[in-house]
Amino acid sequence: MKWAVLVGGRGSNLQALLASGLDVRLVVSHRAGVGALDIAAAAGVPARVLLARASRGPLAYDQELAALLADAGIQAVVAAGYLRILRAPVIDQYPGRILNVHPSLLPAFPGLHAIEQALAHGVKVTGVTVHLVDAGLDSGPIVAQEAVPVAPEDTADTLAARLQPVEHRLLPAAAWALDQGRLHVAGRHVAWGEPDPRDH
Ligand code: GRF
Repeated sequence: MKWAVLVGGRGSNLQALLASGLDVRLVVSHRAGVGALDIAAAAGVPARVLLARASRGPLAYDQELAALLADAGIQAVVAAGYLRILRAPVIDQYPGRILNVHPSLLPAFPGLHAIEQALAHGVKVTGVTVHLVDAGLDSGPIVAQEAVPVAPEDTADTLAARLQPVEHRLLPAAAWALDQGRLHVAGRHVAWGEPDPRDH
């Protein structure tokens, strides 16, 4: 399956996906000058920067993104550090084929600054969620989750440093399961099973 990875940050999850051998054909960043673009370049993966412009609404942005993905023959998408909500043009083009990684145990702390939100709330346990993307904010069916304890002395940096290795393990595993047709979705419930013969 040909994958695109949508980025906007350091690119450590992109690195983990590439290291897993996933067939990443395109990287799209909503920000210029980010580490993820350097990682794409080092791996020889084509990368594009698609900046938001005031003159272009979110729908037009996602129409352009959907066209970019279609032109590259992309079949499935990972959002990893991509800090924009995906809209209908992209979501409808890849039903059940877009994954997102989020640094909390959803549905707790969706949206931006999830690690800071968790610390401010005083939770004793947080974690990582990989989910399928729907039209809501971090609201799609959950594919994988793993808990990470919060220590009293944790800062956003120390907690992020313990969450990221979990992301780098869960996200490639989920992408490969989707790639191999092993994710079976029924409503909100995602089961990891045998490959679906219809996918091959
Ligand atoms: C990750 O923590 C991810 O959960 C969040 O943004 C961060 C991206 O990190 N959505 P990276 O760019 O993959 O290093």
